[in-house]
Amino acid sequence: MSLINWTPEEFGTSVAQHDEEHKHLFGLLNRLHASVSTGERGTIGKALDGLIAFVAEHFSAEEENMRKANYAALDQHRQEHEKLVNTCLNLQQQFRAGQAEITEETTAFLRDWLKQHIPQVDRKYGPTLSAN
Ligand SMILES: [Fe+2]
Ligand SMILES: [Fe+2]
Repeated sequence: MSLINWTPEEFGTSVAQHDEEHKHLFGLLNRLHASVSTGERGTIGKALDGLIAFVAEHFSAEEENMRKANYAALDQHRQEHEKLVNTCLNLQQQFRAGQAEITEETTAFLRDWLKQHIPQVDRKYGPTLSAN
């Protein structure tokens, strides 16, 4: 079963590009979640790396679009992104060093972050970004 499913009601931002990115992000998180149950570090590591790379790409795309639109809450939004990226990079580093494992708690943390950030933070850029 999937950890997280995209629906327009819960996650739609009215910016098609970012909705597509969010769907892709959810797919990568679901893949990481599925890999955890295999217990194979190589599989988990690949899924983790793929997810983190796309998170960075997606955040940059949002920030670039907010910047172009002179979106007022850009700095605040960027701070939330930065915090998650730092958490992810620490996790990746610790995992690679064998000092931490990726567990269902990790994937639940990421799911909860997305379930908070997209409806409460991303959605707010909808009117500004979809007007451009
Ligand atoms: Fe987003
Ligand atoms: Fe965002």
